[in-house]
Amino acid sequence: MSTYDASFRIWRGDAEGGELRDFTVEVHDGEVVLDIVHRLQATQASDLAVRWNCKAGKCGSCSAEVNGRPRLMCMTRMSTFEREETITVTPLRAFPVIRDLVTDVSFNYQKAREVPAFVPPEGVAPGAYRMHQIDVERSQEFRKCIECFLCQDTCHVVRDHEENKNAFAGPRFLMRVAELDMHPLDAAAEAGLDRKSSAQEEHGLGYCNITKCCTEVCPEGIKITDNALIPLKERAVDRKYDPLVWLGSRIRRRPSS
Ligand code: SF4
Ligand code: SF4
Ligand code: FES
Repeated sequence: MSTYDASFRIWRGDAEGGELRDFTVEVHDGEVVLDIVHRLQATQASDLAVRWNCKAGKCGSCSAEVNGRPRLMCMTRMSTFEREETITVTPLRAFPVIRDLVTDVSFNYQKAREVPAFVPPEGVAPGAYRMHQIDVERSQEFRKCIECFLCQDTCHVVRDHEENKNAFAGPRFLMRVAELDMHPLDAAAEAGLDRKSSAQEEHGLGYCNITKCCTEVCPEGIKITDNALIPLKERAVDRKYDPLVWLGSRIRRRPSS
């Protein structure tokens, strides 16, 4: 087994401020960035704060920025980098720092709460739901999400624009709206909830200019932009320009005589 010393630059600090600190850490064959952060904790910086759980790319908690790119530390192999390279690890930039590599991601939980849940169809008992396989597969892709929030972190709409956070749910939760809107059994419309309008008006779909940066960083390989955001935009636009919908809205707006 070969080992070598790698140069790491890690952000240390808290909500009041902080700085990048340099460390030299031993690396063994087959290790990932999270192993090195753990070795740092064990040997040189026992108070270094880092969040992780599974070390298998499934819990979504070890998200950080490695050389400026949002990544899961447990899925980023050290062999990705040249041995001479200095590897910089910083907390997710779009969320407030708690300490060191740990950020407060509660923005995402707030946005999750703002998306109304699946509305069960009336008169169909749970267990009696039937869907075409193609509809099952479509939502299965979105359900691979591990809620790492790397897509939320990378999206330029909020990354450098704190002021947009109120009006924009971010790719992960627009994907959730899309999933529900495409669900053939969701009875939101019958319950008076228009998911397409709320995508535009409440969740900020119009802010997304389909740059696909969210898709590029998704560790689950979910095609967020192509399979969720663009179809949701198309459905919202279809609805807006559907002549029958337009006529219906004109009739509803007419004052009663
Ligand atoms: S495609 Fe849309 S949601 Fe994804 S990063 Fe770009 S602007 Fe953000
Ligand atoms: S869609 Fe992908 S990048 Fe976004 S939270 Fe889910 S798994 Fe993470
Ligand atoms: S520790 Fe669970 S995804 Fe990295």
